[in-house]
Amino acid sequence: MMSKALRDARDFENQYGPHIPDNERPAYHVTPTIGWMNDPNGFSVYKGEYHLFYQYHPYSNEWGPMHWGHVKTRDFLHWERLPAALAPDADYDRAGCFSGSAVELPDGRQLLMYTGVQRGHTPDGFIQDVQTQCIAVGDGVDFEKTEENPVLDGKDLPQDGSTVDFRDPKLWREDDGNYYAVIGNRTADGSGAILLYRSSDCKKWEFVRTLDRCCNQYGKMWECPDFFPLDGKHVLLTSPQEMTPVGLEFHAGNGTVCLIGDYVPQKKGFSRQFVQAIDYGLDFYAPQTLLTPDGRRIMIAWMQNWSTVGAKPYHCRWFGQTTIPRELSVRDGRLYQNPVRELESARGQCVIHRNIPVSGEVNLPGIQGRVLDMTVTVRPTGEERYRWFRVRVAKDGEHETIIRYRPSQSTLKIDRTRSGLPHDIVHTRSFLVRPRDGEMKMRILLDRYSVEIFVNDGEQAASTVIYTPQEADAITFEAGGAALVDVEKYELRFDDSEES
Ligand code: FRU
Repeated sequence: MMSKALRDARDFENQYGPHIPDNERPAYHVTPTIGWMNDPNGFSVYKGEYHLFYQYHPYSNEWGPMHWGHVKTRDFLHWERLPAALAPDADYDRAGCFSGSAVELPDGRQLLMYTGVQRGHTPDGFIQDVQTQCIAVGDGVDFEKTEENPVLDGKDLPQDGSTVDFRDPKLWREDDGNYYAVIGNRTADGSGAILLYRSSDCKKWEFVRTLDRCCNQYGKMWECPDFFPLDGKHVLLTSPQEMTPVGLEFHAGNGTVCLIGDYVPQKKGFSRQFVQAIDYGLDFYAPQTLLTPDGRRIMIAWMQNWSTVGAKPYHCRWFGQTTIPRELSVRDGRLYQNPVRELESARGQCVIHRNIPVSGEVNLPGIQGRVLDMTVTVRPTGEERYRWFRVRVAKDGEHETIIRYRPSQSTLKIDRTRSGLPHDIVHTRSFLVRPRDGEMKMRILLDRYSVEIFVNDGEQAASTVIYTPQEADAITFEAGGAALVDVEKYELRFDDSEES
């Protein structure tokens, strides 16, 4: 039977969700039906469709007792809203249904595995949560929490594991018929570890091993892990809290880390060889992946930064959005990301300019808009080299978001200082790109409230939220010195979108 908490959430989203006009949301990025969204959850294939759940607090634009919101899609672009899937309505999850994942069971049902949070107290009276892992089974819309919950708790932790920080199970099924889950945990040194568990039925779990440990090197607690084979390697993704910067690779606060290595189940387990940030922009956290039937590993993330969740438009009725789903690959020890190829089917009118000499700031005919897919390539003009190159987007007399490339330093910088957010938060981020003899290629996706940049065919990605008024739709190009520029711009068309 449906609990009151879930019924209330569904009534609430039915009543208020439809009041948000489509053009006040992104055209192709997922937003919550109403209220607050954080991590993507349960990103998976179910009965031939892609399902996405998300951390959800429908009743305000702030984080609160966590529910799971739900959408599904066939093409990663058009998302159908489904009713809220989970509410914090059981003793073991009263303080929240935290992040988790989903699988299709062999009998055709859909299973969700999530972290149930119970509120407790420290001996000196402070609030302290206890986290356990729970499951719910359903038909793709309605889910029943099982009576065996919680299916994993403090008893199942390795010796130095914390019950306070034990969360975010990412579940998958292997060919041997067993289910595996990676879960974030805090260890005695105060920093994170990723634990691997195995089960034949998702109810009784056994601890297999610790896959990797932070050892206070990359932030503290490791949240939201994912683990999968890709291009002959194994990839472990995690989102560390409390990072301190390392050069331009990792920034302060909540970061994301991609560990690439080899996995030998019968021997040492996972041995990491390469470590990098996953996204180099201002807004990206808690990514999760799925495997498509045609073998593509697709990642989606929360396009937001915990440190800046207070910076939002006054009274906004939705807050939080996902990134574009991205196709992943591993090449030369690096993670490559490109927008899902399905995006190309939304491409409408195309404007191309080639070999345009740029020095000073120029507009190019037909290049403007806030919902588009644009690739900009810049190179030196023969002998002459440029010192810097800027693309300004979402621009009018008052606003702009700047993407600046400096070949001598091999840095790309995003600057949204003048994007219209009236809050004193971090607005710029720079990162190292690989020098290519002065040539630089940037694929830039705009979608009303965001800018996502894919550098040099996916070598790096950088995502940033903006809240610039939609009328600010100019785009300009500018070089310090002289540069040659190619621009290929497609407007993107979706049923609900009349913009370009
Ligand atoms: C990451 C996170 C998860 C947790 C969820 C709670 O953003 O902190 O670790 O499950 O958000 O909403």
